[in-house]
Amino acid sequence: MKKIIIFFILLVFTGSANGQLNKLVVDVSNSKAKIQPTMYGIFFEDINFAADGGLYAEMIKNRGFEFEEPMMGWLQPNSNRFSLNANSGVAEIIKEQDSSSNRNICRITINNDTGYILLNEGFRGMGIKKNARYQLSLLAAKQSGDIQKINFSFVNNDEKIMGITSIMPDGQGWTTYTTELTATDTEAKARLKITFEGTGVIDLDMISLFSEDTWKGRKNGLRKDLVQLLYDLKPGFLRFPGGCIVEGRTLAKRYQWKKTVGPVDERTVLVNRWNTEFRHRPTPDYFQSFGLGFFEYFQLAEDIGAEPLPILNCGMACQFNTGELVPLEQLDPYVQDALDLIEFANGSVSSPWGKVRSDMGHPKPFNMKYIGIGNEQWGQQYIERYKIFEKALREKYPDIIIVSALGPFPDGELFDYAMDEMKRLNAEIVDEHYYKPPQWFRENSTRYDSYDRNGPKIFAGEYAAQSVAIASPDNKNNWECALSEAAFMTGLERNADLVVMTSYAPLFAHADAWQWTPDLIWFNNLSSYGTANYYVQKMYSTHRGTDLLSISFEDGKAVTGQNGLYSSAVKDSDSGELFIKLVNTSDKLQQVFIELKNKKLADKADVLTLTSDNLSDVNSFDNPDKISPTESQIEVENNHIKTGIDPYTFLILKIGLKQ
Ligand code: AHR
Repeated sequence: MKKIIIFFILLVFTGSANGQLNKLVVDVSNSKAKIQPTMYGIFFEDINFAADGGLYAEMIKNRGFEFEEPMMGWLQPNSNRFSLNANSGVAEIIKEQDSSSNRNICRITINNDTGYILLNEGFRGMGIKKNARYQLSLLAAKQSGDIQKINFSFVNNDEKIMGITSIMPDGQGWTTYTTELTATDTEAKARLKITFEGTGVIDLDMISLFSEDTWKGRKNGLRKDLVQLLYDLKPGFLRFPGGCIVEGRTLAKRYQWKKTVGPVDERTVLVNRWNTEFRHRPTPDYFQSFGLGFFEYFQLAEDIGAEPLPILNCGMACQFNTGELVPLEQLDPYVQDALDLIEFANGSVSSPWGKVRSDMGHPKPFNMKYIGIGNEQWGQQYIERYKIFEKALREKYPDIIIVSALGPFPDGELFDYAMDEMKRLNAEIVDEHYYKPPQWFRENSTRYDSYDRNGPKIFAGEYAAQSVAIASPDNKNNWECALSEAAFMTGLERNADLVVMTSYAPLFAHADAWQWTPDLIWFNNLSSYGTANYYVQKMYSTHRGTDLLSISFEDGKAVTGQNGLYSSAVKDSDSGELFIKLVNTSDKLQQVFIELKNKKLADKADVLTLTSDNLSDVNSFDNPDKISPTESQIEVENNHIKTGIDPYTFLILKIGLKQ
């Protein structure tokens, strides 16, 4: 009788008006591999104003006057010679001789009461929200005369005041002053206006402003909405701080983690390598304050439940830029940085670097398990340096898992050379990068099916479908790209015995200050949204499962693009659920009839669907949920599921496993 019913269902489904029929089989009882908790993670790089002006909630640009042009970000509207009150006051930069990191201070001279103004323009403005409170702090030291009061107000472009507060500077020496500003309006592009009462000379430094409403309410904290988007991904790991930023355009300007920890005002500001990278997207005001430094990255990883994965410079500047090399015999300080980082993250509070961590408020170790050596390096020069790091790390920290580079491309001579070398060296995890057209993603879901299972494990460390071309400013986070990534990711998942870490890149972009597109999350000074690609990542990472299952056509072939259909299946032993991912990249309805073998299943399946009619559709600030998951339910009859999958659709079937 059961057979007759199934036959009838099949007959109904074979009608061409109902779409192509695809008969699939899942073996629910047979775990083919364990899926690593690190399978879906996050790649963070300070590109597109992702840190300063983004995740790091500081609202003052150039708070310590340390940019290469020390007054960048600061305006003195009344101090130009055409102004009526041109002589009211002036700011000048004084270089302190005895401090190597925070060298500059801003000396303000107020000559009369005709209205000297100092303005900070923020990061493409400051986002303020009506009735929200903002913590202001600064260092000030009176030099002469009697400046009795300093006023701080939010103003919009029309000079309308949107909240005001003040401090009374009293002492002669450096004193920290704090006060609170409440915004009386919502404004995306506010500025901070500073005025003075009295005349005289006063020195200012570290003028800092944060919303009180940071992630976990931390001072010097992170933007809450942006961390929430990361948290919601339930990421397996957090890779930081990049990307090319690790390498620097020159060695002198590489990322050095030791300069990013300790008191924030002692962290040395550095020009961001993306400041001048693209002629079509110049960003002269892009610097790294390192307010978001290595301690904060570790803390963020802990907060969002992700394994920290720091990537360190290996003695090579970016090979797309200068390609400067540290001679092999001078590599020791670089290797020492790696060893010290492990001590910083994991060492006891009595170790020198463990103490630094502890003094910053985290006596407990961060329990770091992974370290990346080099970002996207290639050639023999990388291998030579990698070997030196590997030897030192193995000797002192044999349990640390090393992630090594395979260069910038997923194939070709550089890739093959690096992969061969890494196999020879028994590398543990290698980092592959692919920024390719959407079609490439659809055509390469089988990429890992034939990989050598005796070689290194794979970290798909940076990938994103490019709608136009790599680094084109016209690339869009459109539905075609996201859908193609969803299709490709079935291949990552089907190979979870080999692929142990994956991450989309880059992560963040400020709508008014980006250099690179596409990006997973877009934000402005007031709001943020996840792209269609974000929802693809989220659907995978929140349905990661613990065990890989096989899903195939009846003839045993994996579902890798036949009729535009892609699929993978996993079981979650912890929650007792089966997750089947199905992607229809075709423009036709696809019928699927799935036989679930060897385990009793619940009689209902939840369906999470991500779809859009038009492949060029995108999410936006105005329509952030245009492409976002919807939920529904379907019947599971006698361990069989039948459903139609609309054109251009990614869905996940969730079915409870019965005992
Ligand atoms: O994600 C943007 C850049 O692309 C990364 O910094 C680099 O690793 C890659 O080339």
